[in-house]
Amino acid sequence: MATATLPTTEQHTDTFPINGTDHIEFYVGNARQAAHFYRGAFGFELVAYRGPETGTRDRASYLLQQDKIRLILTTPIRSDGEIADHIGRHGDGVKDIALWVDDARTAFRLAVERGAKPAREPVVMKDEHGEIVTAAIHTYGDTIHSLVERKNYSGVLMPGFEPKESVYKPAPVGLKYVDHCVGNVELGAMNKWVRFYADVLGFSQIISFDDKAISTEYSALMSKVMANGNGRIKFPINEPAEGKKRSQIDEYLEFYNGPGVQHIAMATDDIISTVTQLRDRGVEFLRVPGTYYDTVLDRVGHIDEDLTSLRELGVLVDRDDEGYLLQIFTKPVEDRPTVFYEIIERKGAKSFGAGNFKALFEAIEREQALRGNL
Ligand code: FE2
Repeated sequence: MATATLPTTEQHTDTFPINGTDHIEFYVGNARQAAHFYRGAFGFELVAYRGPETGTRDRASYLLQQDKIRLILTTPIRSDGEIADHIGRHGDGVKDIALWVDDARTAFRLAVERGAKPAREPVVMKDEHGEIVTAAIHTYGDTIHSLVERKNYSGVLMPGFEPKESVYKPAPVGLKYVDHCVGNVELGAMNKWVRFYADVLGFSQIISFDDKAISTEYSALMSKVMANGNGRIKFPINEPAEGKKRSQIDEYLEFYNGPGVQHIAMATDDIISTVTQLRDRGVEFLRVPGTYYDTVLDRVGHIDEDLTSLRELGVLVDRDDEGYLLQIFTKPVEDRPTVFYEIIERKGAKSFGAGNFKALFEAIEREQALRGNL
C-alpha cells in the first residue's frame, strides 16, 4: 500500500536495553470488582494483593496474571490524592506501562539526560525475597513508564505484595503476552511522542500510516509504530486527522480528558478458542458486516483457519509480506468510550492489520453514532 511505509531495518546498537513489558497498572474506581471482571471474563489469575491489610494504607492493588501478561489494578482507599484525581479525570485507565530493565538507576539517569520528565526517582524496596529497584518517567498525558529492575528479587512481584490464594479460579483463555500498547495523543502531537521514544528510549519507527491509509467516509487518523531495540515492545501512537465528523481518537481524547492508552493487544496461539471463550464469558467484541467474509480470502489468500468460525466470531484477517494475522477488538471495557483490548494471533505477519482498518473504523463509527458522539 502506497500510504503505509514499511520498516527500514538497519542494524544499530540498542541505546536503551529493555527486556520487555514488566506489567501494566490501571487506576480504577473499584479494584476488587475490576479484578473479578478480568478473572471471570478474561481468565486472569489473581496472584497477589497489596492493601491496607498488608501494610499499604492508602490503596489496594490486585496483581492478575495470565502467562506472561501481568496487570495490576489499583484503587485509592480515600477520596483525595493522586490516584483518586486520576480516576476523576480519566475514569478507569492505564497509569503505567512498566518496562523491565536490568539496571533501573542507569536507565532512569540516561532517560532523564535525554529529556524524559522524571516521575519518580529511583527507590529500592526490600523484603525477605530480595530487592527491587524502580524509578519512573512520564510519557503522554498522565501515563508513566516505570523502570523495574528485578534481577535481585525472587518474590511474587515486588515488596508490599503478598501472594493471594482464592477458591475462585476461572480457567485461562490462552492469552500469552502483550503484543503492543497503543497511545492516543492530541492533534499535532504524534511526531513529538515518536521523537520521545526514539531519542529517549532508543526506539525506532517500524511503520507509519497516514490519514489516506486510515480513513473512512467520516473520520481519519494517523499512526506511527515505535519498537524498542529487541522488538518485544511495540507502541503505535495515534493522532486524529481532519475528517467530516469526529474521529474515534477525538472521542477518546474527549472522554479520557487527554492523551492515554487506547488499547492493549494480547497475543494468543489459537484465536478461535480464545475468542470463543471470551465471548462465552461475556466479553463484547466489535462486529464487521458479514459481507467482509465474502471477499476476505480474495485479499489474504489461503489461511489455515475455518472461515465459518472466523465469520461466526467476527475475527478479522490481514496479510503482509511475511505472513498473515488474525485479530479482533473488544468494545470499550468501561462505560467511558476509552480503553479496549485487541486479541491477536500472528501467523508470520509483523504488521498491525492495515487491511482491516476501514471495515473496523466503520464498525467503531456505528458504535460512536449510537453513543451520540459522531
Ligand atoms: Fe492494535
